Amino acid sequence: MTNPAANSERFYLTTPIYYVNARPHLGHAYSTIVCDAIARRKRALGIETRFLTGTDEHGQKIERSAALAGRTPLEFATAISGEFRGLWDQLGLTYDDFIRTTEDRHKRGTQRLFAELRDKGFIYKGSYTGQYCVSDELYVDGPPGTVCPDCGRATETVSEENYFFKLSAFERKLLEFYEANPNFMGPESTRREVISFVRSGLKDLSVSRTSFSWGIPVPGDEKHVIYVWLDALANYITALGYGSDNPEEQARFKKFWPADMHLIGKEISRFHCVYWPAFLMAAGIPLPRSVKANGWLLFDQGKMSKSRGNIVRAETVHTVLGSDALRYFLLREIPFGQDGSFSFDALVQRYNGDLANGYGNLVSRVVNMMHKYFGGVLPEAGPETPAESALRESAVRAIAAFGPEFDALNFSESLKSLWTLVAETDGYLTANAPWKRPTDRPEAEHVALQARVLATAAEAIRIITALVYPILPDSAAKVWLQLGQGEIAVAANNAFLTNVSWGGLKAGTKFAEPAPLFPRAEKDAVERMQNIEDQNSKSVIEAASTCGAASATCGGASGGSDAKTGENAIKGEATLSKLKDQKTTCDNAPVDSVGDDFGEAQAYETVAQTAQQTLAHPQVAPLQVAHTIPASEQHTGPMQPAEEQSPVSPQITIDDVIKVDLRVAQILVAERVPKADKLLRLEVDLGYEKRQILAGIAQYYEPEKLVGRKIVIVANLAPRKMRGLESNGMLLAASLEGGSPVLAGFLEDVPLGARLK
Ligand code: MSP
Repeated sequence: MTNPAANSERFYLTTPIYYVNARPHLGHAYSTIVCDAIARRKRALGIETRFLTGTDEHGQKIERSAALAGRTPLEFATAISGEFRGLWDQLGLTYDDFIRTTEDRHKRGTQRLFAELRDKGFIYKGSYTGQYCVSDELYVDGPPGTVCPDCGRATETVSEENYFFKLSAFERKLLEFYEANPNFMGPESTRREVISFVRSGLKDLSVSRTSFSWGIPVPGDEKHVIYVWLDALANYITALGYGSDNPEEQARFKKFWPADMHLIGKEISRFHCVYWPAFLMAAGIPLPRSVKANGWLLFDQGKMSKSRGNIVRAETVHTVLGSDALRYFLLREIPFGQDGSFSFDALVQRYNGDLANGYGNLVSRVVNMMHKYFGGVLPEAGPETPAESALRESAVRAIAAFGPEFDALNFSESLKSLWTLVAETDGYLTANAPWKRPTDRPEAEHVALQARVLATAAEAIRIITALVYPILPDSAAKVWLQLGQGEIAVAANNAFLTNVSWGGLKAGTKFAEPAPLFPRAEKDAVERMQNIEDQNSKSVIEAASTCGAASATCGGASGGSDAKTGENAIKGEATLSKLKDQKTTCDNAPVDSVGDDFGEAQAYETVAQTAQQTLAHPQVAPLQVAHTIPASEQHTGPMQPAEEQSPVSPQITIDDVIKVDLRVAQILVAERVPKADKLLRLEVDLGYEKRQILAGIAQYYEPEKLVGRKIVIVANLAPRKMRGLESNGMLLAASLEGGSPVLAGFLEDVPLGARLK
C-alpha cells in the first residue's frame, strides 16, 4: 500500500468522532479546536481543505445509556450529537462536514467496507469467549475479572459467534509500513507504543457482535452488528462518499482520500494506527498520510472526562473570556502531544498576560495613536533608522519561524516566537515614545518620528495578526478591520498567508475606529467561571434528585435545540436508572474484585433501612449503608450483623426514604489509621465538596486500590469522631456471608454528587 507524498493542492483533516454517551467538554473541544486552527491555516494558504468531525453513535455503551435514560438509542444519540454540533457552531469552528454514524450514507459505506473485507477473504466466522470493556468498546485479553487496561473498569465476559478480521496477517505489513513512513504517526511516544504493540503479536479481531442490536447490521447476516470501532473508523471514508453510487460523491472520495491527517487523542492510537491501516490494506484502499495524537487535558490532576467527574465545559470559558481566549490557551499552554493541565487561574493568567496586556494592548495603543495624531490615516513611514530595521528583521524572523513550527504542530513554539515580536514591537514603541515630544525636538521632526514609529509598529501588528489568524480568528478579524484591511475572511479566501511579507500596509490606508479586543479579566473572572460550572453540576444533581424513576416530568432530550433540558433530563433519568443497574451489580460478581481474605465475621453498624429497601436485591445480601465502623471502632450505637436485617426489616414509607441523602462520591485518598487495624481514613469528592470519612474496611480493601473508585455514601449523616478523627458520612456496601463488605459501585459513568433516590 502506498503512502503518496503530501499533496499541497488539497488537505483532508479529521477529528475523532465523539461518543454520544456524554456531553462535550473541554477535552473534546481541544481536539476539535486544534483541527480548526490547522484547517484555517491551510485554507488561508490556498489549499483546498476539508475538515470533518462528527459523532460515534452505535454500540453497547450508547444502547445502555439510552435505555437508562428511557430513550430510544436514536433519540438519545440525536440529542447529544446536536449538543456537539451546537457547541462547535457556538465556538465558530469551521468544519466542512459533520458525520453521524447513524446516517444512511455511513451505514451504506460501512457495509460496503465490511463486504469488501469479507469478499477479499479477510473476514471469517468464528466464536469468541473473552473479556470486553463496554466503556472503551475494546476486547481485552485475560480471564474473567480482568480490568480494562485502558480505563481500569471491570470487563464483561462475552461469549458469542462472531465474524473475525484476520488482523494477524498484517503484523509484518504494518511494521514495514511504519518503517517506510516514519512520519505516519506522532508524537514519538505514540509511534513507539504502537510499534511495540504490533511487535508483541497481533491476534485476529472480532468485528461483529450478536448480543445487542444497536449497530450497523452485517450485510447478509443481520443478526450480527458490525463492531463499533470498524463502524466508527469507516466514517473517515464514508463521509467523503465511499460506498456511494453517486458519481459526485465518488469524485469527492477520489479527490480527498487518503486523508492528510487524522487528529486523535492518544488513547485511541491503537485503533487508528493498527486496526484502521490493516482494514484499509485488506480492502485495497490507500492509507491515511498521518495520524497525530494530542495528549490529555488534565483537570484536578486527572484526565478530564465525564467518568472522573472533573470536566469543564467549553461554553463556560467562551461565556466569560471568549472563544479566542480558549483557543490561545490550549495551543500556547500545552505543547502538542503532551498532557497539559487546565485551570481557570492559569487561563486567566495567560489571558491577561499575553492577550489583554500583550497583543490587545499593543493594538489598542497603535490604533489609538494613529487616530489621535494622524486622523486614522496611515502616514508615509519615511526612511528607516536602525530601530526600524531591527524590528523589520525581527518580523522577518517571526514569519520564517511561525509557519514551519505551526505546520509541525508545535503550536506553542510558533506562538512563543510570534509573541517575541509582540514584545519587541511594544518595546520599540516605548523606546521611541511617539506620544512625548522632548522640548529640544522640533515639531516637524517629532511628526516624522510619530509617522515612522506608528507606521512601523502597525506593519508589525499586521504581520502578527495575519499569522495568528488561524488561532485567534475573531480577534484577528477585528484587528484587520482596524488596520483598514477589510474582512479577514475575504483575505483568507484569497490565500493571504501565501505571501506574508514586510511592507503590506500602504500609506493613506484609513484605519477603522479602535474597538476593544481583550478587556482585562478582573479578579472575579475565575470565580465567575467556577460559578457557572458549579451551577451546571448543581443542575445535574437537582435533575438527578427531582426526577422520579417513573416520572414523565423529566422532559425529553428530543433534539439539539433543547440542549440544556435534554442534558439534565438525560442525566437525571440516567442517575435514577442506575439504581436499577445497581441491582445487577449485586446480582452478579461485584464490579471490582475484592480479592481479599474475608476472615472473621464482622459486625457492622446498623444498616439504614431506607437504603436497603430502595437498593438491595431481594435475593442477595442487602446493600448496606454499612461497615463504616466496625464494632471495635465505634463509640456509640448498637452492633447488628447484616444478615439479621434481611429480609425482615419493617416496612417504611417514602418519607423515610427521602431522609437519607445517598450520593455518588469518588475516593481521592485512602490510608490506614494508625493503631486501628480495621479503619481506613478516606477523603472523598462529592463534586460540590470534599470530606473525610472513616470506614471499617481496612481488612477487606487495600487502601491504594480504592483511590479513584466511585462509591455511594450517606451524605447527610451527622459527623462523629473516631480515634480523634471526624467522620462525615458512611459508605454503602453489600455485606456478604460472614459480613465481608463489597462496596457499591456503578457500571456506567455517573457524575460526582449525583443523588440516588
Ligand atoms: N468514538 C471514539 C473515537 C472514534 S474515532 C473513529 C472515542 N470517542 S470519545 O468521545 O471518547 O472521544 C475521544 C476523543 O476526544 C479523544 O480521542 C480526544 O481526541 C478527545 N478527548 C476527550 N477527552 C479528552 C481530554 N481530557 N484531553 C484531550 N482530549 C480528549 O474515543
